[in-house]
Amino acid sequence: MQYQQEQDYTRKLDAGLWRRVIGYMKPYHRHLIAIMATMAVSALCDTIFPLLTREAIDTFIGSGQTAGRAWFVARYIGTVLLQSACIFTFCQICGRAECGINRHIRKLAFKRLEELSFSYYDQTPVGFIISRMTSDTSRIGETVAWGLVDLFWSGAYILITAIAMLLLNARMALLVLSVMPVIAVTAVWFQKRILASYREVRKTNSQITGAFNEGIMGAKTSKTLVREEANAKEFSVLTGKMRTSSIRAAVFSALFYPIVISLGSIATALVLQRGGTEVFSASGIVTVGTLAAFVQYSTGIFEPVSNIARIFADLQASQAAAERVVSLLETEPEIFDTPEVIEKFGDSFSPKKENWPDIKGDIEFDHVSFHYSTGEEVLEDFSLKVKAGQTVALVGETGSGKSTIVNLICRFYEPTKGVIRIDGEDYRSRSILWLQAHLGYVLQQPHLFSGTIRENIRFGRLDATDREIEAACRAVDAEDFILKMDKGYDSEVGEGGSRLSTGQKQLISFARALIAKPAIFVLDEATSSVDTQTEQKLQAAISVALTGRTSFIIAHRLSTIRSADLILVIKGGKIIERGTHAELLGQRGYYYTLYANQFREEGEKRAWEEGASA
Ligand SMILES: Nc1ncnc2c1ncn2[C@@H]1O[C@H](COP(=O)(O)OP(=O)(O)O)[C@@H](O)[C@H]1O
Ligand SMILES: [Mg+2]
Repeated sequence: MQYQQEQDYTRKLDAGLWRRVIGYMKPYHRHLIAIMATMAVSALCDTIFPLLTREAIDTFIGSGQTAGRAWFVARYIGTVLLQSACIFTFCQICGRAECGINRHIRKLAFKRLEELSFSYYDQTPVGFIISRMTSDTSRIGETVAWGLVDLFWSGAYILITAIAMLLLNARMALLVLSVMPVIAVTAVWFQKRILASYREVRKTNSQITGAFNEGIMGAKTSKTLVREEANAKEFSVLTGKMRTSSIRAAVFSALFYPIVISLGSIATALVLQRGGTEVFSASGIVTVGTLAAFVQYSTGIFEPVSNIARIFADLQASQAAAERVVSLLETEPEIFDTPEVIEKFGDSFSPKKENWPDIKGDIEFDHVSFHYSTGEEVLEDFSLKVKAGQTVALVGETGSGKSTIVNLICRFYEPTKGVIRIDGEDYRSRSILWLQAHLGYVLQQPHLFSGTIRENIRFGRLDATDREIEAACRAVDAEDFILKMDKGYDSEVGEGGSRLSTGQKQLISFARALIAKPAIFVLDEATSSVDTQTEQKLQAAISVALTGRTSFIIAHRLSTIRSADLILVIKGGKIIERGTHAELLGQRGYYYTLYANQFREEGEKRAWEEGASA
């Protein structure tokens, strides 16, 4: 089986990408600069200590001098305090920056997700979006905040130490520095291997999660297909692969530090050998104190070198997360208001309602063509005029384009050719929010939010009173079942409305749409999951709800749409018949056949039920 995977991103370190990531952290730039500054000071303290040791040995221990000892102790304590202050400060700033950056990027990403059009969600699996919002963003915060600490400390440490050594004794300094390239190359080599193994581990891990998921979801199907053994084999191959790569990563990591330490010891040995001879030679350029300082420098300088190699590997490993988040932040919504429209009517987050024109509800499709980003033409040269207040019913086979037509009206998608006019104006010249605020939409798969029934209905109009909510529920005949629930209107509906049946969810979302008093009402197979009796009762509510509103009804049961002002029969994105119920029956065409068939089926069903109950 093939499991869907996140796309694999570039492997080379991409400095431009990280610059863009840093750009998104604008409110935290001050923190980042503070981190860099404290790290530089902290590295400076680290290089001062060996110098203090040197002074202690040469001035006080060697000669037994006592003058100036108090001043020396004061400087020593001062350095210790300064360094402690630095560590305290950077830990704090770093922690704060890490959380803050996470939150900030999540906020940006969430805002973008709210702006993105339906087409983005058509193409991006929910799992991917969730991992961008959670693990990817926290990874970025961590890498940037703590990576910057290490990078700055290491860089500053190497630089200042190198200068201090060169000033103390150039020849010995060059000796120590000559080992550095060897360590750098080794570190880079190892980090590359470790990175590659971890990538392998992560990839296999996502496949295993996929396999788990499919295995659990499809447990019953697997049994019926007798696929248990094949599945188990596949699973064992995957886990075996994961084990091999994990072990490889562990071995490389285990080898890395001992090797760096050994190389560092070689440098120390060189220093001791060279410096040791000089200390005891007649020239006496190298003092015991200088030698001691060098030993400290040479053991200390290799950690930052391997640190830097590790940070670059970390950056590379986090790069995929950064790329995913940046690509989300930089995805432009396909449906957006032009700057002029925003100027006049405001955007979704700060609408200028005072400038909004009233809506009547005339709707016109003027030679509209449309295709989804991933498919062929669904509508071609489609024209239709609907007057305000009319009820239009759309019928036709599954896939004929009914939902597409109403999605276009709602501006969830826009025509690829042609114009849709509302009240005679191209709807793109008004804001998206203006239209959607005047729209009531009930879907075949209704979605409720966690919370109570009352809260869910109030999402339709936030200032609705309890009385209005209850009236809306009575209008759609939902009160019966609501009052039977444990807490009536205050019963929790569960995540996504999971404690209700689909039919009940449809009734609630119907009430929610109704309470908003929309000018345009869209019912897309909104009653497909309620039983025939409830549907008949709903019928009355629907006709009350729809009076005075332009409405579009898509329904399979033709009995629901008999009273529509206009019925359109859609086939392959084209209107093949249009008229009222009576006119269409008179035409004896496609609609007639469809209706006759359903009528016969329902008649047979009723006759059968009556026979059974008799
Ligand atoms: N989000 C989408 N992305 C790509 N193609 C789609 C999408 N939604 C619908 N389609 C395609 O558009 C055509 C019309 O679909 P739709 O309008 O949903 O039909 P209906 O509501 O009449 O059943 C179908 O061929 C369907 O495969
Ligand atoms: Mg549909």
